[in-house]
Amino acid sequence: MFGLGKSPSPSISEADVIAALSTVNDPELHRDLVSLGMIRDIAIDGGRVAFTVVLTTPACPLKNVIQQDCENALKRDIPAVETVHVQWDAQVPRDSRLSSRVAVPVRNAIAVGSGKGGVGKSTVAVNLAVSLAQQGATVGLLDADVYGPNVPMMMGQRKARPVSKDGKHIEPIEAYGVKMISIGFLVDEQTPLVWRGPMLHGALRQFLGDVNWGDLDYLIIDLPPGTGDVQLSLTQAMPLTGAVIVSTPQAVSQHDVVKSIAMFQLEQIDVPVLGVIENMSGFAAPDTGTVYDIFGAGGGREVAKQMKVPFLGTIPIDMAVRQGGDSGVPIVVGAPDSPAAKAIAQIAAELAGRISVLTLSRPKERTFAADPDLAFVG
Ligand SMILES: Nc1ncnc2c1ncn2[C@@H]1O[C@H](COP(=O)(O)OP(=O)(O)O)[C@@H](O)[C@H]1O
Ligand SMILES: [Mg+2]
Repeated sequence: MFGLGKSPSPSISEADVIAALSTVNDPELHRDLVSLGMIRDIAIDGGRVAFTVVLTTPACPLKNVIQQDCENALKRDIPAVETVHVQWDAQVPRDSRLSSRVAVPVRNAIAVGSGKGGVGKSTVAVNLAVSLAQQGATVGLLDADVYGPNVPMMMGQRKARPVSKDGKHIEPIEAYGVKMISIGFLVDEQTPLVWRGPMLHGALRQFLGDVNWGDLDYLIIDLPPGTGDVQLSLTQAMPLTGAVIVSTPQAVSQHDVVKSIAMFQLEQIDVPVLGVIENMSGFAAPDTGTVYDIFGAGGGREVAKQMKVPFLGTIPIDMAVRQGGDSGVPIVVGAPDSPAAKAIAQIAAELAGRISVLTLSRPKERTFAADPDLAFVG
């Protein structure tokens, strides 16, 4: 037979590549990569096609899916394509709700809250922040738990004292790639803090506006526990992209979680709940590996379902988590391969994905002018 000899492959055009890639949807945003502006720097060399995918977060959990989908589409639609090379870049979208209200270069502000103390809120906030930084994002951590600031200790920075270079702005303290501020850096550890409402409001505004954060993809905020006046005023002091609620599995804590979610959903607060995290979910005995559900299991998922908010995942009880907090080396740094650290990294990526979806779905022109009736409570 003849005609089987390999004829010179027809040249591939950039338009062909764009056409093929416009059939590929971002798995989270459900729109095609081309119209989302995620495809850049297409280079064609014979049967080799290379391009850059600009993700909406460096902590993208779905890179493999996107890579495979692109390759499949190109090979399906353009027979001359032999190899596909994807490079990754990321540009985190800016939350218009934040940028329309405050003049700080923070793209997204995420509060970590809980119905009550002791559920691991600070631990989760710290490890999420460090994990996002490890995954390539620029991250800040604002310790808004003015009554019990734990961030300095958990980040190994108890002795740190921020300085001001220009007499106006405070330089954040930096550790593990995360910039942070805490009232704990500014007062003695033994000094009890008695906050009056307006002071609190002012301190938080300063933490947001007077700290040299630089361009941050994510500012993680460790809120005080509970749903009282303090939380209310804190959430009003700064526009938030969304909130994450930390819960433990036992039934009694679910009631607190419901209250906490309901608080963020109040009309005058209107902070979308990005999801619930179930912490201290099961204990795997280090000697036998047997998993004990010390506090029960599934409560976080249940309450998320009941309140119709996403469930972000579970973090097991692990002594290394507590040791990491006490010694100032977060578990995602000290034992990144432990089940708890892996769970946190996965939750961080899941959260980053949800933030992108939320931020991109927000109408750009929607502005939230400061409402004088949102009187400060306290
Ligand atoms: N998954 C976990 N495994 C083991 N200990 C944990 C875990 N999460 C938190 N802890 C520990 O529980 C205590 C309370 O956590 P913390 O983050 O301070 O709670 P909160 O900020 O909600 O008051 C700390 O000693 C912390 O190290
Ligand atoms: Mg705490």
